Amino acid sequence: MSFQPSKLGTREYWDNIYDEEIENFEDIGDEGEIWFGEESMLKMVQWVIEHAPPQRNILEVGTGNGVLLCELATNGYDPSHLLGIDYSLGSIALSKRVAEKRGIKDISFSLCDFLSENPLGLGHMDGNGVGQWDLLLDKGTFDAIALSKPDASGKVPADSYPHRVARLLGPGGLFLLTSCNYTEEELRERFVSEETGLTYQYETFYCKPLGLTNLNM
Ligand SMILES: C[S@@+](CC[C@H](N)C(=O)[O-])C[C@H]1O[C@@H](n2cnc3c(N)ncnc32)[C@H](O)[C@@H]1O
Repeated sequence: MSFQPSKLGTREYWDNIYDEEIENFEDIGDEGEIWFGEESMLKMVQWVIEHAPPQRNILEVGTGNGVLLCELATNGYDPSHLLGIDYSLGSIALSKRVAEKRGIKDISFSLCDFLSENPLGLGHMDGNGVGQWDLLLDKGTFDAIALSKPDASGKVPADSYPHRVARLLGPGGLFLLTSCNYTEEELRERFVSEETGLTYQYETFYCKPLGLTNLNM
């Protein structure tokens, strides 16, 4: 299934959103929008606690205000093993300020376009972290990317997303995705293939986290 391109699929849209959110944060301390609401975020935190022990290297794709990673740190996940990336500079600035205000040090946040760049690895990783992540998290980012326009050659940005996930995950790594635009079956069709090496592992349902594990060894 593909969607009509919308402004949510553009970097400009997110830059404007985070400019406003930074202003609100500075004015009234508001941390900004939690996509799909707090309940969804806490379900993801619970899922991570059940499936990935602390000390795992965790990458959040499209970190927004960074609150999901802050919640993991609050729940015992070592901040020096957490990296949030986003292609909007404002998101990175906001995430750093939110973490600082919460008194959480050492979560890394860095600017990165997930579809075209490798995130910088964490200090204790070899090189850029390709093939070394234990868990990738996505809440709303694949949904946003799926609203982007095809490029000049007609390539649809969302089509390259599953391959990027597979490339970054280490052996037995997990990918946890929360989507509100796709049914579970549609997500499985997009992500699970011999080519990506991703397979569906955990029982779940629409609009709840979808756990996929990478069997590329
Ligand atoms: C719907 S928001 C979700 C934000 C956050 N995950 C949350 O749940 O609050 C989508 C996020 O993905 C980011 N994003 C979109 N395309 C991206 C890309 N190609 N690379 C990195 N980040 C991207 C946007 O800047 C935005 O922060």
